[in-house]
This record gives sequence, structure tokens and C-alpha cells, in this order.
Amino acid sequence: MATKILLEHVGVEGIRAIDTYLAHGGYRSVGKALKEMSSDQLVEEVKTAGLRGRGGAGFPTGMKWSFLDKKSENPRYLVCNADESEPGTFKDRYLMERIPHLLIEGMITASYALGANTSYIYVRGEMMPVIRLLEKAIAEAYAKGYLGKNILGSGYNLDLYVQPGGGAYICGEETALLESLEGKRGNPRNKPPFPAVSGLYGCPTVINNVETIASVPWIVNNGGAAYASIGIGKSTGTKLISACGNIRQPGVYEIELGLPVEEFLYSDVYCGGIAEGRELKAVVPGGSSVPILPKELILKTAAGEPRLMSYESLAEGGFVSGSMLGSGGFIVFDDRACIVRNLWNFTRFYHHESCGQCSPCREGTGWMAKVLHRIEHGHGKMSDIDLLVDVAKHIEGKTICPLGDAAAWPVGSAIRHFRDEFEAHVKNPDSCLAKHLHGAYAHAASIM
Ligand SMILES: Cc1cc2nc3c(=O)[nH]c(=O)nc-3n(C[C@H](O)[C@H](O)[C@H](O)COP(=O)(O)O)c2cc1C
Repeated sequence: MATKILLEHVGVEGIRAIDTYLAHGGYRSVGKALKEMSSDQLVEEVKTAGLRGRGGAGFPTGMKWSFLDKKSENPRYLVCNADESEPGTFKDRYLMERIPHLLIEGMITASYALGANTSYIYVRGEMMPVIRLLEKAIAEAYAKGYLGKNILGSGYNLDLYVQPGGGAYICGEETALLESLEGKRGNPRNKPPFPAVSGLYGCPTVINNVETIASVPWIVNNGGAAYASIGIGKSTGTKLISACGNIRQPGVYEIELGLPVEEFLYSDVYCGGIAEGRELKAVVPGGSSVPILPKELILKTAAGEPRLMSYESLAEGGFVSGSMLGSGGFIVFDDRACIVRNLWNFTRFYHHESCGQCSPCREGTGWMAKVLHRIEHGHGKMSDIDLLVDVAKHIEGKTICPLGDAAAWPVGSAIRHFRDEFEAHVKNPDSCLAKHLHGAYAHAASIM
């Protein structure tokens, strides 16, 4: 039985209410942290755990916390990134909807570790029901003395606010989020300075993903070493994976990092195999921003090793034959899916969501969307395929924030692994699978 750190109590009747949550051991980490541990000890514990940010980049959380400018006389802030707008990623919403107090508990212990007395949860604006659930949970936590002044008699004060997001994918980029939280348009900031030095209102700030913060209570209760003993290598602990696309059992699963991709995809405990008895064609394993891998490379690395659900194994082979764990949005395509059409879909999304500050991203995403539109609709030229690769290369690494990379990587990888499909579209526009199989067409579209 796989360890459950985040979803253990999901499904318990009434777990959204604080009394039920408390009856199942909730808020234990707050008492332990505030009464028995110093903030430095907490940071060390998270370092020992090897917890890595679950928002996509996988940056070590304890290290990020230790970068916080503690010499500054300005207030410090913890901001939880609950903007979750990446196509294929829906694990944070699931966690907040099912067990909102877990995030509140994590926010309190993490805020204490950082010396923050005011913290924010920035939630995607469209998730109104989640915002209401969190507000209710926060009110309950205040009423029980877990928030506010002199928490549990410890002398520590914390106010926690929920802020509805600005309604754009870019507001999930941490510095755009800070701009939006300050009431401005969500445009990413130039770095340095990094938020740890100059973040919200120019003060030292840590921004962490929902799942990252929700993992902290377990680490405090059980110790960093116990967390580090779960998983594989530098991919410690568990990870929420939102699985969607052409699989029998779409949903959110908590896995121990290191689980073989094959087991995740075909076991009845998880995805349950490809839907409708079809064959696997490809997987985008970490949300729409990461490289797509064909069947041969998602189940095994180029060296023939079983591919594992871990930061390292999914990246094995670099961008030639690997991908990324990213945000854990696992999108599965069966043999009916049209790669060109899906790439066009993703690219339109990035073009729509580009903030427009950087020319390579603002213009390049639009060009790629137009070229993909013409290939998909039967007006493409053979030279368009290399043109796409060229435009993607001119976006990658040349923008203020990684939205440009997120738009470029899927294009490069789709052409690398499925070039024949792009060529077939040009040579014979009627070859497009999506045009013939309306079922698959609808299915692929529903992923978005
Ligand atoms: C365009 C864009 C959108 C992003 N959206 C999110 C998001 O919705 N949630 C999230 O946690 N991180 C998102 N990120 C990553 C954040 O910038 C940041 O790295 C993350 O919140 C840090 O938290 P972590 O260290 O706990 O992973 C996004 C990044 C980019 C470039």
C-alpha cells in the first residue's frame, strides 16, 4: 500500500469541517512547531526531507526558505501559489476542495518557519467554490485560535488572507502573481532581485505551490528523515498526479515518487490503462509545458531502463529523449489522437496567455499558432515544419519569464518525435486523424 501524505483523509465524511479535521490529527504540526521547534529547526527539517517545489520547477523548498533575507527589517511574507491554470493540471484544486484545512495548517507552520506574520493564498479567480471553502476554513481556524494573535499561547501572530487571482495563466508565474497581488496587471518582473530579497511590496517573500505547503505538516509531525525515506534518490516523498486524456480512470492520484510509469499507466490502482481498448500513442507527463514523449520513450528511457515517475527519470535523455515531471499533469494520447491538432491547441493557449512584454513570446507564440493552424487545415508547406522549430528556438530562453520556454518546448518535442505526422499533414491534408475520427477529435479537445 503506497504511503498517503496528502490524501490520507480525503474521503473522510465531514473532513472539510475543523472539528472532524482535528479529530483526525489535524493541526498537530502547528502545536509541535510553535511550542517545540525554532523557525531555523523547521527550515532544517524541510531541507532534510528533500522536499522539492511541486509547482513545476522542483526547486528544493528548504533551500528556497533559507534564501529569505532575514536581516531585512521589512516584514516577510509567505504567498501560496494556488493559481493552477496549466492545461492538464488539476491537483491543487482537488486538494483544496477535498481537504482545505491541510493547506491552512501548512500555511501556519510554513509562515512560522519563515517568520511571516501576514500570508496570502492566491487562488485562481475562476475557482470560486474553492475560495469560499478556504475562507470558511480560515474563519474556523481563527475561531479555534490557530490564526490571529498569540497562536496557541506561543506569542506568534499570523493573519492569513485568500486573494482571488487575476484570471490569467501568467498570474501563476511567481513575480506576475506578486504584481497581481499588489493590485497591478500580472506582468512578470525582471530578476534579480528575486522574491526572497524583494518580493511582495518590495519585502522578502517566499512563493510556494499548494502541494508543497500541504506537505509540510507531515514533515513536521514525522520528521524530515521519514519523508526522505519515501521516494527515490533526490525525488523524495509523494507527488499528486492529475491524470487525464484517453485513459480508463482519469483523476488525481498520490504516488510515491519512483513508481514506474508503466505501473501508473496500466495498473487499476491508477490510470487503469488506455480507454476503449486503444493503443498508447504518447504522453505529456508534466502539464502542457513539458516535452511530449512517444510510447517507446515514456515507458522506457532511450537506454532501455524502465521510466519512473521521478524528477530525474522523466528528465533522463534531456530534451532529445526525455521530458519533465513538471506540475504532474499527466496527459495521455491514444492512437487516434492527432499530434498536430493537439499542439496547435496548446500553442493557441500560450499565445492567448502571453502577457506581451517580450517580443519573442508575444510574436513567436502567435506565429507558431498561425503556422500550426495552416498545417492542420491543409495549407501547410514542408518548410513550415522547420520554420516552427526555428521560431521555437528563438523564443526559448529569450524571455523575462519561462512562459516562452513553456510554449517552445512542446513544439520542438512534437516535431522531434512525430515529424512524419507533420509531413503527412502537408503531403496529404486528408491524413489528419482528427478530421476522420470525430470521437477522438472531441476527446482530445476535452483535455483542454
Ligand atoms: C506561466 C507560468 C505559470 C505558472 N503557474 C503556476 C501555478 O499555477 N502554480 C504554481 O504553483 N506554480 C506556477 N508556476 C511556477 C511558479 O512561478 C513558481 O515557480 C512556483 O509557484 C514555486 O513554488 P514551488 O517552489 O513550491 O514549486 C508557473 C510558472 C509560469 C512560468
